Amino acid sequence: MNEVVRLPLVPAPEPEPVVRLRNCSRSFGATRVLTDLDLSIAPGEFVALLGRSGSGKTTLLRTLAGLDDPAGQDVRVPASRATVFQDARLLPWKKVWQNVALGLPGGARRHHAEQALGEVGLDHRLDAWPLTLSGGEAQRAALARALVRKPELLLLDEPFAALDALTRIRMHALVLALWRAHRPAVLLVTHDVDEAMALADRILVLDKGRIAAEERIVAARGQRSPVVRALRARLLGHLGLDTSDGVYADLIARNPAGDA
Ligand SMILES: Nc1ncnc2c1ncn2[C@@H]1O[C@H](COP(=O)(O)OP(=O)(O)OP(=O)(O)O)[C@@H](O)[C@H]1O
Ligand SMILES: [Mg+2]
Repeated sequence: MNEVVRLPLVPAPEPEPVVRLRNCSRSFGATRVLTDLDLSIAPGEFVALLGRSGSGKTTLLRTLAGLDDPAGQDVRVPASRATVFQDARLLPWKKVWQNVALGLPGGARRHHAEQALGEVGLDHRLDAWPLTLSGGEAQRAALARALVRKPELLLLDEPFAALDALTRIRMHALVLALWRAHRPAVLLVTHDVDEAMALADRILVLDKGRIAAEERIVAARGQRSPVVRALRARLLGHLGLDTSDGVYADLIARNPAGDA
């Protein structure tokens, strides 16, 4: 008789994280902003970072972007990374395509810029001056400038905060389409709990210098209505709101997409 050998179930190995931060601390003078913070992001993972104003979100993002480089930190990030900030930061004396192509090696620079601008729906504004773009268009140009570098890590610091609600929703769809097409790991800093729930695989809350809470969303994007209400209440709680106070009931129940 054949003997059946039962092997223990071994979980699939986790992929090597593309971002790994260990014991990261950062102070400005006497103010401690980050305290022994640990963070890992898997390849292609979409992570949103929430936190109160002044909690250190931008400081953390700048560390990952290599814009703030205090000595002795254990930071692993991919070499190919790109950042988009709340303001587009386009150089006004360069045309839109030149802004996108900035820093690319010669040769097909215009072609690559045109392709990236096409992906964000701006290929008709290649030769425009940045100051003639609307706020939403300027942010799309900034996304194209990030995209053209084919980043393994895309860092977004409240990139839609200054846009009107409708443009913001359109930008969400665009970012998701770009993420699906290119699959960079994304760290999106936002104040908008609903934006985080619509876009991310995982939501982190930064508080007192550390990741104070973490929520993983398993439901597919577009099918999250059944979980968003409870998740919104939890996230607002993590952000310091007393969600048992009835005064927040409408805020907790609100659903800007109007589909539940
Ligand atoms: N270069 C700097 N010099 C001194 N203090 C700084 C510097 N950069 C940030 N800070 C301080 O560190 C703290 C965290 O700032 P940070 O910009 O990271 O917050 P944030 O979470 O991004 O806030 P917000 O949501 O308002 O953008 C704040 O108290 C800020 O004043
Ligand atoms: Mg900030």
